[in-house]
Amino acid sequence: MSKIVAVHSYKGGTGKTIMSVNLAATFAKQGKKVALFDLDFRAPSLFAILRCEKIQVWLNDYLNNNCDIDKILIDLSSRISGKGKLYVGLANPSIDAMRDISTKDRRWEMRALGHLLSLKNKLFDEQKFDYIIFDTSPGLQYSSMNAIVTADFVVVTTTGDCSDVNGTKRMISEFYKMFEKKTGIVINKILDDVARSNNAEYAKKIKETYNVPLLGVVPCFCEILKAEGKYLFPQDKSDHPFTNLLYEMADKIEKSNIN
Ligand SMILES: Nc1ncnc2c1ncn2[C@@H]1O[C@H](COP(=O)(O)OP(=O)(O)OP(=O)(O)O)[C@@H](O)[C@H]1O
Ligand SMILES: [Mg+2]
Repeated sequence: MSKIVAVHSYKGGTGKTIMSVNLAATFAKQGKKVALFDLDFRAPSLFAILRCEKIQVWLNDYLNNNCDIDKILIDLSSRISGKGKLYVGLANPSIDAMRDISTKDRRWEMRALGHLLSLKNKLFDEQKFDYIIFDTSPGLQYSSMNAIVTADFVVVTTTGDCSDVNGTKRMISEFYKMFEKKTGIVINKILDDVARSNNAEYAKKIKETYNVPLLGVVPCFCEILKAEGKYLFPQDKSDHPFTNLLYEMADKIEKSNIN
């Protein structure tokens, strides 16, 4: 079953990009055909993290109706061993492009939503992709709302900060619920001793706090920081505990029957 997964958060810096890239790599490592899109037009980062060079056509061009989706998909499958496929569609990081997107009005955003929705037909039905992953901007930016409306499943990343907890709770109860989106939460950058303490008790507390299924609890790992986003953990760090967590999260999303 094919799925669109939007990775979103209330606050910035909660790990959306790290999760998006590595979840996409995890599905690809499992043999799936995956397209990862950078919908964070406010601060594009996938082009740098994935070290893509000489890109001439961007996701911006697809949303501006200037080209077809095939023109912007970059094939990174050679970075993942096995039969899986990994493609990426990048947001244009030039200042002009960032400024251009920030001036778009609601009509443009509605048309952009139409283009995102049409990916279901173009990528799932025609090109047999299994997963589309959207890396988004934090908060309620228009592009993030479009990503969530288009998605089948929202992965919400949060940290333990109290400002993050309250905002995330409101976003889940008032925003995702409004669109009736299946949602799972990832608690990221947790201090090790918290993560290692009573897991069942902690999971219960998270469920009571957010009232959505818990996808995973990710400790603060120095290797993630040091990697500067440049490792595809399932490929480059297959024994790392983060990789194990990614496989668990991917399984829960795949089944979408997390409790
Ligand atoms: N579990 C973790 N352990 C250590 N560092 C982490 C962890 N998760 C994310 N980071 C680091 O935190 C920083 C922010 O992560 P990331 O860019 O993925 O967040 P983001 O939600 O995409 O941010 P933004 O809202 O600005 O797009 C990065 O330097 C990343 O390497
Ligand atoms: Mg990001």
